[in-house]
This record gives sequence, C-alpha cells and structure tokens, in this order.
Amino acid sequence: MLSPEILRDGLETKTFGRKVYSFETIDSTNSCARALAACWAEEGTVVLSEEQTAGRGRLGRSWSSSPSENLTFSIVLRPQITPDVMNILSLLVAVGIARGLKEHAGVHVLCKWPNDILFRRRKLAGILLEGALSGDRVESVIVGIGLNVNQQIFPEDLQARATSLALASGHYYDRPKLFKGILTTLEDEYLTQAGLGFKHVVDRWLEHAPMIGKRITVDSNGAEIEGTVRGITDSGGLVVASQTGEHTFLAGDVTILDMEPYASGD
Ligand code: BTN
Repeated sequence: MLSPEILRDGLETKTFGRKVYSFETIDSTNSCARALAACWAEEGTVVLSEEQTAGRGRLGRSWSSSPSENLTFSIVLRPQITPDVMNILSLLVAVGIARGLKEHAGVHVLCKWPNDILFRRRKLAGILLEGALSGDRVESVIVGIGLNVNQQIFPEDLQARATSLALASGHYYDRPKLFKGILTTLEDEYLTQAGLGFKHVVDRWLEHAPMIGKRITVDSNGAEIEGTVRGITDSGGLVVASQTGEHTFLAGDVTILDMEPYASGD
C-alpha cells in the first residue's frame, strides 16, 4: 500500500496533499472525499486508494483500474466560484494533469472535451468533478483523477481505447514520485488561475486541446449531432456548428472524426 508518509515525503505544496488518506481498497475515493468534505475536510485533502470496488466515471459509468498499478485519487477543493464555473474547473484540472505529465513523466498528452486526457487517441486519464452546493454557493468540489500509470494489460473492451504511461513511454514509473509531481503542478495551475479569477482557463486548455475547427460528433442525452467545433464558452461549454444551427453542450461524449493531431500525439 502507498502509505500517507511515502505519499507526502518531500512534498512542497501549500495545501494539496498536506493531508492524505490512503487505502488498500475502498468503494470510490470520490465518495470518501465527499464524505470528508461534508465533515469540513480542508482544501487540498487527498484520498487515494490502490483499488476501488465502485470507481465512478462520467455519465454514470464505472472506472476500471488494475489494483496497485495506477493512481486513483480525489482532492477536496473549496474554490470561491459559482456553480456555473464548475466546467471551467474541470478544464483547469485537465491542463494541470497535461502539464504534470509533461513535466514529471515526460509524456506529451492532449486534452479532449470535456475532460479526457489522451495519448495517441487512447485514454490515459479521466477526471470526474463532483460539487457540493448550498443554494448558489459551491461548498466544495471533489476532483477525482484516474491515471493509468504502470498497467500494461487492459480488459478486452478497453484494449482499443485505453493506454498507460508505461505503454506510452516504455518506462516503469515510481508512483509516489509521480503523484507528488502531479499534485505540485496541479496546485500551481489551480492557484495561478484562481488568482486570475479563472478567466484564462479556456485559453490555457485550448493550448492543450487542438479541437477548434475539428469535425466531431457529440452524443448528449441520447441525441447525436455531427458538426464542427466553433469554440468553448466562458463557462466551459462546447460550441458546435451543425446543419441545424449552433449548439452549446455542457455535457456529452465527443468523437473526433479527423483525429490528427490526436492520432500522432504531436
Ligand atoms: C471519466 O473519464 O469518466 C472519469 C473517471 C474518473 C475516475 C476517478 S478514479 C478516482 C476517482 N474516484 C472515482 O470513483 N472516480 C474518480
């Protein structure tokens, strides 16, 4: 098991990971972090587990991760934002992870709306944000991150769509070291963008997500629309022009039809 001591040793962040709860197995680190946040856990509190028995993905899906090979963890945030800025926060986290992987794993990834991290069109990491609201106030946001690190073999249904850092680079990674590196970059991105009132997050994200002008399909609430990406709204929505007009999506599944540069990863 990755002990809290190993996970915190040498960590120089201000709040991220100052308090770490580490488990061998748990239902979902997001559920645990949510419960801790409801009991006033401070910003930056991390819950990590080697295995999740009910790991959650977006849109009610499950998250599969081979025990003790990857990083599955959740961070409690208490940002001063209104609920409509939640999507922006998810873009910010994607940028932080993309930067973190470049700086600490030497792997160049691309982001795909809303919050996928891809290496050569395969999913390397997923992000799940869950907010706790009190009226129009965001009490806390749980940032759940599933990062495939050393896993080399994936279940058959994921083989064509998933990858890991080890498969991407041919290297084995020291997970505590990588965890601390990613937390450090993520905190830096978060504090910088919070200081700027989260106004530059979309531009930052677009630097890592060459989606503008791409032909895509969006599957949202069972309806599929094909069109061209026109932009990202100030609140993180995806703007798509189709034959029937312009549509803004706040959630959905995107398939990019022309995968360059996603396919080559450059
Ligand atoms: C997605 O791509 O659909 C998001 C996947 C998020 C998975 C992570 S693993 C750690 C945290 N705990 C969960 O139950 N889910 C997130």
